[in-house]
Amino acid sequence: MDLGSEVTSELTVVPFTDLSAMTHEVWPEIAPDYLACLLDGAYIGGPAVTAFERGWAAYCGVDHAVGVASGTDALQLSLTALGIGAGDEVVVPANTFIATAAAVVRAGAIPRFADVSDDTLLMTPHTLAEAITPRTRAVMIVHLYGQLPDMAGLLAIARRAGIAVIEDAAQAHGAEWGGRRAGSFGETACFSFYPAKNLGACGDAGAVVTSRPELADRIRALANHGRSHGDSHYNHGCIGTNSRLDALQAIMLSGKLARLDTWTERRIALASRYRGLLSDTEFTGTELRLTDAVPLARHVYHLFVVRLTRRDSVRAELARRGIQTGVHYPVPCHMQPPLRQFADRPLPVTEQSAGELLSLPMFPHLSDRQVDFVCESLCEALQAATVSSEPVHAR
Ligand SMILES: Cc1ncc(COP(=O)(O)O)c(C=O)c1O
Repeated sequence: MDLGSEVTSELTVVPFTDLSAMTHEVWPEIAPDYLACLLDGAYIGGPAVTAFERGWAAYCGVDHAVGVASGTDALQLSLTALGIGAGDEVVVPANTFIATAAAVVRAGAIPRFADVSDDTLLMTPHTLAEAITPRTRAVMIVHLYGQLPDMAGLLAIARRAGIAVIEDAAQAHGAEWGGRRAGSFGETACFSFYPAKNLGACGDAGAVVTSRPELADRIRALANHGRSHGDSHYNHGCIGTNSRLDALQAIMLSGKLARLDTWTERRIALASRYRGLLSDTEFTGTELRLTDAVPLARHVYHLFVVRLTRRDSVRAELARRGIQTGVHYPVPCHMQPPLRQFADRPLPVTEQSAGELLSLPMFPHLSDRQVDFVCESLCEALQAATVSSEPVHAR
């Protein structure tokens, strides 16, 4: 039985995350606006959505943000707005959440999977270059776990190939590379505000950010049944969809945005505690590997991911002690049944690491003592796994 993240709360000593703690923290400040909106009945669009969009664009260092219904929609709308569809190829890393590749398929295009670095588990200029063909129109650079890859290298390859860059920044709110924020590198960048993200709504939500006004307008129209700015309610200039950010979610997100930097600093401090406790154990470098930090990157630790050769038995032991963990991701995208048809070659790092990845508890309200307990338990679980797997010799 997989006890991982399904451990019941009575048994849980260290949860994987705690979403209500963040909501509790912001609620006193947002309650008046939230209740006013709830009772006024203006739920779709309006000033609360515009205020959040402005705040989010400014935070990312871009000119425009368009609130949409989810990170998945943000990715698909970006592709469609860029005119990418049937017959076009889009490079995506194989080590990502399925939404990155699924958005490509839903836009009518073909995902081309790239392998990742063995050190950072992110796409590299080399793995991107390997995946580009004459039919490639774009790359989705995924800032997985909360850190940006080598952006200068990736942008240079994309520029040389003449392909568009879309950032999948669903896990990287406030992350930076070379002093620039996630969201400010691509033609568009896509954020998820799924509740467990570093900036999370109380339901599904997302945004596309861009500094190209015509792209922002197009995405806004596509996300609103094809209505362009100034059109009447029943004038539709193109076939769009319904993918809008709700006013109540926008109020929640604006409230949490005011706390995001403080929460991010806490995530960074917790990650540094994990690194301090795990970088020099008797298992480090063999049974246990830490994920490297990318030079010039400010990692915002959406997830704290380690690699373990005996991942499943260690994970089960942690669960037995009440420590919830996650696996991001157990099955690489190109090996998922609906995407296998697009897998054209082995991707050794992604395939090998999928069996080793373990995400340890990480959220702003995690305590230092809980981190210490996770690290002690991890070392004891590694010890137990090592002993139990030693060969038994006949006497
Ligand atoms: C890397 C990545 N891309 C895309 C998404 C999709 O975002 P959403 O769940 O808001 O649709 C997620 C969300 O889990 C993600 O982690």
